[in-house]
Amino acid sequence: MSDLLNPPPQHVAIIMDGNGRWAQRRALPRSAGHREGAAAVRRTIEAAAKMGTRYLTLYAFSTENWSRPPEETDTLMDLLEKTLDEYQQNADKQDLRILISGSRDKLNARILAKMDRLVRSTAQNKGLTVNLALNYGARQELVAAVNRWLATRPAQPCTLQDLAAHLYQPQLPDPELLIRTSGEQRLSNFLLWQCAYSELYFTPVLWPDFNGQELQKAVLDYRRRQRRFGGI
Ligand code: IPE
Ligand code: IPE
Ligand code: MG
Repeated sequence: MSDLLNPPPQHVAIIMDGNGRWAQRRALPRSAGHREGAAAVRRTIEAAAKMGTRYLTLYAFSTENWSRPPEETDTLMDLLEKTLDEYQQNADKQDLRILISGSRDKLNARILAKMDRLVRSTAQNKGLTVNLALNYGARQELVAAVNRWLATRPAQPCTLQDLAAHLYQPQLPDPELLIRTSGEQRLSNFLLWQCAYSELYFTPVLWPDFNGQELQKAVLDYRRRQRRFGGI
């Protein structure tokens, strides 16, 4: 009998952590870790698409990451812009649909314009949907959802469906699997609503070392888990 209890996840979410430590172990600047992290993003997108995953949400920059020194946030914004340019070039070839989740506050106008263009130009692609969580905070998302719902001047109290319908990407199913790299075992303000029943997978692998094989390991682990959703 197969020990695979679940079909492959449709939606995988990843907290891509450990770039700084990867660089530190090599006596390199943290920026080198972030550059290698961008290469791991490329590999992981390719691997997820190949495995038939429908949705991949990647935590790239949190609202709390602005508390880092300006040299580091500048490097990260630079890399983000390069990544947007790269996917503007390549997303159609890979049939990727790009979505972006997060607050627009504090992002510069050039980056916002590139984000909007990339989302617009890939909207009809039918392959993997990559949801980039950029300047993302789950508590901020929930407050924004409540405010968007209030703006509809509701006549009735808020329901679960009302709140879910006003999140950043209401059309996406909840992630079945949430992966965090680098050994940390916390959510760091990521998808607090959507991960209510996600299976959590923690690996000591640092994000720049992550690849398709590590993704397959996580998916296999997920497929062997018994999910109960409060039942028996
Ligand atoms: C993840 O790596 C990338 C971002 C949070 C932007 P870190 O930069 O957090 O790396 P560590 O946790 O310091 O090793
Ligand atoms: C979470 O990692 C955010 C991203 C991966 C983008 P952090 O490195 O910011 O999280 P903490 O500070 O260790 O909780
Ligand atoms: Mg970190």
